[in-house]
Amino acid sequence: AENGYELWMRYVRVQNPVLLKQYQSALKYYAIQTTSATLSVAKNELLKGIEGLTGNRINETQGTENNSIIAGTPASSAFIKRFLDAGNYHPGKEGYIIQSEKTGSKSRIVIAADNDIGVLYGVFAFLRLLQTEQNIHDLFIESSPKIQYRILNHWDNLNRTVERGYAGASIWNWHTLPDYIDQRYIDYARANASVGINGTVLTNVNANSLTLTAPYLQKVKALADVFRPYGIKVFLTAKFSAPEEIGGLKTADPLNAEVKNWWRQKCNEIYALIPDFGGFLIKANSEGQPGPQGYGRTHADGANLFADALAPHGGIVMWRAFVYDVRVQNTNEHFGEGHQEATGNAIAAEDRFKQAYDEFKPLDGKFRKNVLLQVKNGPIDFQPREPFSPLFGAMPQTPLMMEFQLTQEYLGQGTHLVYEAPLFKECLDADTYAKGSGSAVARVIDGSLNDHPVTGIAGVANIGNDINWTGHPFGQANWYAFGRLAWDYHLSSAQVAEEWLRQTFSNNKIFIAAAQKIMLASREAVVNYMTPLGLHHIMGTGHHYGPAPWVDNAGRADWNPVYYHKADAAGIGFDRTAAGSNALAQYQPEVQKQWNNRSTCDEKYLLWFHHVPWSFKMNTGRSLWDELCYKYNAGVDSVRWMREQWNRLNAYVDAERFTSIKLLLGIQEKEAVWWRNACLLYFQTFSKMAIPSKYEQPDKT
Ligand code: GCU
Repeated sequence: AENGYELWMRYVRVQNPVLLKQYQSALKYYAIQTTSATLSVAKNELLKGIEGLTGNRINETQGTENNSIIAGTPASSAFIKRFLDAGNYHPGKEGYIIQSEKTGSKSRIVIAADNDIGVLYGVFAFLRLLQTEQNIHDLFIESSPKIQYRILNHWDNLNRTVERGYAGASIWNWHTLPDYIDQRYIDYARANASVGINGTVLTNVNANSLTLTAPYLQKVKALADVFRPYGIKVFLTAKFSAPEEIGGLKTADPLNAEVKNWWRQKCNEIYALIPDFGGFLIKANSEGQPGPQGYGRTHADGANLFADALAPHGGIVMWRAFVYDVRVQNTNEHFGEGHQEATGNAIAAEDRFKQAYDEFKPLDGKFRKNVLLQVKNGPIDFQPREPFSPLFGAMPQTPLMMEFQLTQEYLGQGTHLVYEAPLFKECLDADTYAKGSGSAVARVIDGSLNDHPVTGIAGVANIGNDINWTGHPFGQANWYAFGRLAWDYHLSSAQVAEEWLRQTFSNNKIFIAAAQKIMLASREAVVNYMTPLGLHHIMGTGHHYGPAPWVDNAGRADWNPVYYHKADAAGIGFDRTAAGSNALAQYQPEVQKQWNNRSTCDEKYLLWFHHVPWSFKMNTGRSLWDELCYKYNAGVDSVRWMREQWNRLNAYVDAERFTSIKLLLGIQEKEAVWWRNACLLYFQTFSKMAIPSKYEQPDKT
């Protein structure tokens, strides 16, 4: 049985007989000098992969036998040095080259890199060719990442609960660390390295100061030691008030000399244990977390405090831009460790959409060089569809990091099949017009638009200790896609889905075609059955599961679904034009032009920016109300279609995973219907219009 633990690294025997033969005869010998821990794991992976895929237990060769695979760097291999010199190749810091090489009667495959980690990445890329059944004659592949820091953010608490985690408990067992090294830590590192993820923030953004105490740092060191050979750096979240909580100081004021000294000492302590420690991720003055504003200082003062302490060691600060309404008092703990939820009366807040920009835009140019501002893809919070955050087009002097959420907090959590690559790409491809047309968000993130040497992208992990890591078997695809797109955002969603399916399930063409279609349809499906036409933030309060557009007492105005959809007798949607909150003014004029007129605004974003009459005529000729009915029904129909498609695939998938996905799709259909019925019946109380008879009539129970 297959339980999904192996992820996309199953290395099962190649089914295509012609290719199997090709691989078996081309891969008889290997040469890799294991002069470092990284080269040694590269060798082990290569041998394990080839043995599983071809059945060959291949022999080591000193020289360069016919049908051998040779991997290394100029430092580890004279052959590789000659090869790179002869071709004048420069794979770069993490890049690699895979090339078929023929001299006389000998044919060989070369995996060459400037550094050891490039060899490991090259080995994984080579194994991917075999796993996806590609021809390996005449290879010439050159690859290097577009973004420097490609990081998973674990929202894992020290007690092993995972904030917004739907796949079991945290994989970090703080109790048995540092002495017990779970095989999962190693397999986690392999999986990440296989897609080029090179950093991990181990702990929740709602941070616990204990993380930075000596006993925990020993545990962190143990993990860093496991991950190092795989090119993965460890990062931690830092709680702003740590100097008070664990340092015995009376303040955490970022300009206070003792506070500065405390963080400097703390960094010295960390780097003595973990010389390649990556740095800190910090959530400050956000949702009740402490921060510099509590001491009358700015976000820049706060970020620079950490930046100065880390700089001598080469570490970075990832300072989060996820802030809104710090004026609200937060007192009550709801989400577990560290996370605080408001209990006070709802207050009328400035449009939450605008707040990150208002807060950070004036600070552009005020951050140290080793600070990255980490911005969520959209202005609110990981909704099924958001316009890109206006900050991406607004802070040329600050390196901006992308924050995507792999865990499906607002996307059906652990039970819905939603392939997120199209969501990631939609944001990365969006044009900010910051420097005229062609200023895609991706070019802000990769540093090319404003010449930033330090670049990064983060994904909030969907990983837990469920046997298959991500709960829903298709959740693995989001982890995979994040890594692949962080490496190269030019890859298409379809291509990444296909690769993942081939490695994770089967190379059978019928299977791939059908399963890929399901994946590619899934994101639009969730948008349609949850939040079509630009609706957003209408889910259940707190847990964020299921529909609750009627809620108006969530504790703060800006958590109330009614605040976001603003449905009334006249229409529905949030007016963010100049006549409304004017959030649109935060975008470049060209972007404003796309969205500021409700007659020309892309209908995907319509209710993000406009309060639209129920009878408004849409592009299809339908009224807005009719269109809403149409979209909610289309969402349900898509899930039904996904279910039917999957049910035909039982011959191609092992029984365990087939059944698990089949049952989950059953839940997804039920819940798509729930969303549709709840939202349409609720909005109907305002529109007072009938649900056209051509659509399934919601069951009011
Ligand atoms: C969302 C999420 C929280 C999380 C927060 C953040 O609001 O619901 O659980 O802490 O984002 O990103 O900081």
